[in-house]
Amino acid sequence: MLVPAKEMLQKAKAGHYAVGQFNINNLEWTKAILQTAQELQSPVILGVSEGAGKYMCGYKTVVGMVNGMLEEMNITVPVALHLDHGTYEGCYKCIEAGFSSVMFDGSHYPIDENVAKTTELVQVCRDKGLSIEAEVGAIGGEEDGVIGMGECADPNECKAIADLGVDMLAAGIGNIHGKYPENWPGLSFETLAAVQEKTGDMPLVLHGGTGIPDDQIKKAIHLGVAKINVNTECQLVFAEATRKYIEAGKDLQGKGFDPRKLLAPGTEAIKAKVKEKMELFGSVGKAND
Ligand code: 13P
Repeated sequence: MLVPAKEMLQKAKAGHYAVGQFNINNLEWTKAILQTAQELQSPVILGVSEGAGKYMCGYKTVVGMVNGMLEEMNITVPVALHLDHGTYEGCYKCIEAGFSSVMFDGSHYPIDENVAKTTELVQVCRDKGLSIEAEVGAIGGEEDGVIGMGECADPNECKAIADLGVDMLAAGIGNIHGKYPENWPGLSFETLAAVQEKTGDMPLVLHGGTGIPDDQIKKAIHLGVAKINVNTECQLVFAEATRKYIEAGKDLQGKGFDPRKLLAPGTEAIKAKVKEKMELFGSVGKAND
């Protein structure tokens, strides 16, 4: 059964580790992440962006697929199904479809409007038993080929949003989605420490997990990050493994064109990457804590 992310993140924050949010794109992705979480006895969050939700034929399809897998694969570790960077409308759709967690990304609204919309959604999620993430300070990334540097959130704004009763808070600390540019100065631990001081026990979320050096990840966890989002890195290893298979001409040998064979190396690569991240984040063996 799907669970909200609240409890697993509170435990992670108290235990000084982080739970990975791995974004899903299709059946292979979902299966690979769930298998790895079960093998390693780690809690896990499956992230679904609005684009990926559309690609997978809508949120109801995603909920059906994930719930089916939890049952058929005998998954016993805590699993949350979470809308990633949701719009106001997207949050309502996922709440209705059966997600166990949503992120309302109101970071592009003026703070007053972010507060108003977040307040409303917090109440709805509470009533229905979902967890909710909010964001302060836009997290940059590549847009139209231009890579923007990540913003740093205002710690007072973070406190204002945290006080609305959200279960986890994403604060921009110089992190961005996708690959980091050569001249990226690194995470702003000064901002993170200030946000942590203002928000206390609130589990903090680090977006843009791809390409952040391991020592910076560890320091971020030490400073209160309890959820780390990873997407691009799984896509990169999937593409690389699939390219190698094709370039080696394996799809031309025997039944190598069978999608179950063609997609197997990429799926294995995702499993290895998720394992590496769970070990780094410290969530291995924490499923039953
Ligand atoms: P990356 O694609 O950089 O790993 O970021 C993932 C993310 O933050 C999803 O919200």
